[in-house]
Parts: sequence; structure tokens; C-alpha cells
Amino acid sequence: MRETLDELRAAAQDRLDPDVWHYISRGSGDHVSVNEAELAWDVWRLRPRVLRDVSSVHTSCAVFGEWESPIGIAPSAYHRLVHPEGEAATARGAAASGAPFVLSSRSTVPLEQVAEQLGARPWWFQVYLMHERGISDALARRAAEAGATALVLTGDTPYLGYRPRAGRARPVPLDDELALIGVCQHLPADVQDPWPLIDQTPHQTLADIERLADLTGLPVIVKGVLRGDDALACVQAGAGGVWVSTHGGRQLDGTVPTAYALAEVADAVGDRAVVLADGGVRGGRDALVALALGASAVFVGRPAMWALAAGGAEGVAELLTGLREELAHLMGLAGATGLEQLDPSLVTRVPR
Ligand code: FNR
Ligand code: LAC
Repeated sequence: MRETLDELRAAAQDRLDPDVWHYISRGSGDHVSVNEAELAWDVWRLRPRVLRDVSSVHTSCAVFGEWESPIGIAPSAYHRLVHPEGEAATARGAAASGAPFVLSSRSTVPLEQVAEQLGARPWWFQVYLMHERGISDALARRAAEAGATALVLTGDTPYLGYRPRAGRARPVPLDDELALIGVCQHLPADVQDPWPLIDQTPHQTLADIERLADLTGLPVIVKGVLRGDDALACVQAGAGGVWVSTHGGRQLDGTVPTAYALAEVADAVGDRAVVLADGGVRGGRDALVALALGASAVFVGRPAMWALAAGGAEGVAELLTGLREELAHLMGLAGATGLEQLDPSLVTRVPR
């Protein structure tokens, strides 16, 4: 699958404006985390079982909704940067393949319109706590009303990580008109510069978990957790799930990669809450390792943007279906017929 994804990446790069490509691809700081994320999965080796009847392998799962695949789309900002239909197309692609879909707070299509594309299928909404709390609260409430089945509270972004611009004039090559589509109805009519209101606020605490759950009645998953003790603190504060992630290497650089942090987090959480993961997942084998280590579902960030850029909704569906089919194929070879049979005994860590 990595070869297919390399081709998809190249096709997207060909089509996209170099500034947009840079925004999507880049990491923060010295690029340690962004460079390490993919390869880190390779320290895990599989320990397959033999002579199991694997004539029928299924990948269906139930995680705040029912899905045909445990490989979904991580929340990412501004999809209309790469495709005119933006998040509406991404959502349609995810729905067509039965994969989990998380809509970013920084959507360039109003969330109700994205929800329409999903019909009766479940989806989750990602929350950034903004300086003006009223706006992030309003978005979370709108998402609940539009049918979201969970909130993903991003905890690793009290402010944006340091992202070298490499000579580029603007951090995000996007006009305010598009960038503000999701929030414009909540802005004061006479606002000159809305960003001080809607940028992430550093005033975020564990108490925000329960506050958001009470506000919306939805389970809250905390995204960006990299330590077992922190995961436990989130769960004790009311989180229904924790999501192991380095934000695609775009926030604190030089963190422990997801592939190493996941086992510690899953161990600490046990069955008190759901564990999810993303970061450098580039095929069914990475997903298989993550699911064995204790994730209930895993997510791709950049590959979804590449697929959207190169092939719209169909491209996204093809990517997600390809990932699901590869996972099922590898599960059978490893002697497993369902996700419930994946456990840590299926992997072992080798020295790098
Ligand atoms: C992101 N990510 C992100 N996360 C989030 O919680 N809210 C957001 O709006 C965004 N926006 C965003 C934009 C872009 C361009 C990228 C690449 C990433 C992080 C994302 O959810 C996810 O954690 C990573 O992308 C996963 O890593 P891979 O699959 O890109 O390696
Ligand atoms: C990013 C923000 C929007 O990673 O999450 O670019």
C-alpha cells in the first residue's frame, strides 16, 4: 500500500499549488516528528497464528457509531484548498466506504451541509477551543443537532506549533472568505479581524471535557494524548475516548511517535474508554499493528487530502476501501477473522 500511497501523494503534488502543498505536507520545528511518524510503525513485527479458518474475515466495528472499517479520516482543515467541493466530497467518500469520518472545526463547508452528505451515517466533529468560547460552543451544539455521534476535542493545540514558512508569505494560502465559512454566522457584524476570536485558546483544561459533554450530550474523545498517565487523567475527567496523535508532526516537534506511545496509553486506559490513533498510518499493515496494540480505530490525515485532491469523493472512497481491503487481507494471513481477535500478542518490537 505504501507504493500506492506514494503514487497518490505524487498525483496530488502535481495538481496542487506549491503553497497549498507546503501547508499540507509540512511539520513543525525541525521536522523530527513529521519525518519519523511513518517509519516508526516498522519497529513492530507481526506474530501470526496458523491453521485458523480465515475463509471469512470482517472488519466491522462499533465505536460511537457502526462502521464497516476501522480505518477512518482524521480531522483536517480547509478541504476546499484541494478540491472545489471540499469537505462535502470527503464526507461522501467516507460514507461510500463505511469508514469513520471526523469533520474539522476549520471546515470550508458549513457543517450542516457536510452532515447532509452523510445521510443517516454516523460522523464525529472535531472541536478547537477558541478564544471566544461562545463560538466553539455554538459549533459543537450545531454538530450535535446535525447528527454528530461524538466530539473530538483536540488537546495538543493550545496554540499552533512553530511552522517554518520557508519563504512563504502566509501561513495558510487561503482567503478569509473560505476560511471563515464555518464560523461566519457567529462573528459580530462589525468585526475587523476575526482571528483573535477564533484562534485556539491556551486557556484549556481537563474541565473542558465534561463541559462539552454536558453542553452537547455527546461522548468526548481527547485527541493528542501521548502518555498513559495523561490518558488516565482525561478518562477520569469524563472522556469517553483518547486519541493518540502527534497532530501529523505539526505541533510539539520531537515527541514520542504514535507507534511507540500507543501501547503505554492502551495499557493505562484498559477498558475504561476507547483508544484511537493516527500519525503516519500508510497502509493496512500499520493499521493492523495499531489495532493489535489496543486502538479500536485508526485514522489517516494527509492521505485523505491527497485522495481528495487527486480524485474527489471517488478518490477518497477508493483510498478508504483499499485500506480496508488490505487490512482484511493481512488479518487473514495473520490468522484473525475479526477485529476482536487482534491483541498485543500479535506484535513484537524489534530494535531499530
Ligand atoms: C491536520 N490535523 C488537524 N487536527 C485537528 O484536530 N484539527 C484540524 O483542523 C487539523 N488540521 C490539519 C490540517 C492538515 C493539513 C494536516 C496535515 C493535519 C491533524 C490530523 O488530524 C492528524 O492528526 C494527522 O494528519 C495524522 O497524521 P498523518 O496521517 O497526516 O500522518
Ligand atoms: C493545522 C491546524 C489547522 O494543523 O490544525 O494546520
